[in-house]
Amino acid sequence: MSRGLPLFPEAASTIASGVDLVYFFMVAVSVFFSVGIFTAIFYFALRYRRQHPDEVPKPIEGSLQLEILWSVGPFLITMVMFGWGTALFFRNVNPPPGAMEMYVVGKQWMWKIQHPEGHREINELHVPVGVPVKLTMSTEDVIHSFFIPAFRVKKDVVPGMYTSLWFEATKAGQYHLFCAEYCGTQHSGMRGTVHVMEPADYEAWLSGSPRGETMVQAGERVFQRLGCFTCHRADTPGRGPSLEGVFGSDVRLQNGQTVRADEAYLRESILRPQAKIVAGFSTQMPTFQGQISEEGLMQITAYIKSLAQRQGPETARPQQ
Ligand code: CUA
Repeated sequence: MSRGLPLFPEAASTIASGVDLVYFFMVAVSVFFSVGIFTAIFYFALRYRRQHPDEVPKPIEGSLQLEILWSVGPFLITMVMFGWGTALFFRNVNPPPGAMEMYVVGKQWMWKIQHPEGHREINELHVPVGVPVKLTMSTEDVIHSFFIPAFRVKKDVVPGMYTSLWFEATKAGQYHLFCAEYCGTQHSGMRGTVHVMEPADYEAWLSGSPRGETMVQAGERVFQRLGCFTCHRADTPGRGPSLEGVFGSDVRLQNGQTVRADEAYLRESILRPQAKIVAGFSTQMPTFQGQISEEGLMQITAYIKSLAQRQGPETARPQQ
């Protein structure tokens, strides 16, 4: 619907038109009331202006109906905005199951992207059209913000944690990618291109471009290099919990709480092992803060995820 407006970016994702509709609704409400209020101000200023120097107007007692009208009316209108926006927000936050996963690391001043199959890109993102894509994002230095205007998605990329964003592109083409958070001298240069391709073209691109190890292979290598396997073994009871089937499961902790083993939990357990200790295990794991890069963390997470997929989600209930 925004295609004819030169001020508007193209709408090229499944949520773009929904976001635009809420936006236009809010603009329409604002314009309606602004025009109405200013018209009334000018009309009343003329209509009720003082016409004789000694004129004294009649006192006004107020009106209950008017008070109710202008309290309840705006309340209902803002609740429509709230409900509508919230529904869209939740649709925008939760990626559909089975979304294609990619990993993004922000760095002054570039976007580094890893595909699960092992392809790496800088300031370029190739995705197939019509496929939900979930990005797991982090940063090596300061806050950045990953913004694709044509998809109407934007998410801050924050040091020390993962944020995620998903989209499903609806039109093949090339779209702007921006950093939308001031992050230093070259902030304005921290941009790139999203290439949305027909599935066949995407397959051709994948097979035609150089690839390194897959994310899982790279993660397994990091796992070996850091010696994780000496404690987290699958075959015998080790000093640490076995990691098979852990990802996505509910883990019972020493303090009786239960947490969902997601990306954030794995990240915290690697960098701050004392934060959440699995029931039945001791606190002897050292921190790996400073020994593993953001990309390494993402790779090891992909590897641990793959251990869960090997076993299947139904049996993924460790140490209960
Ligand atoms: Cu990164 Cu602005």
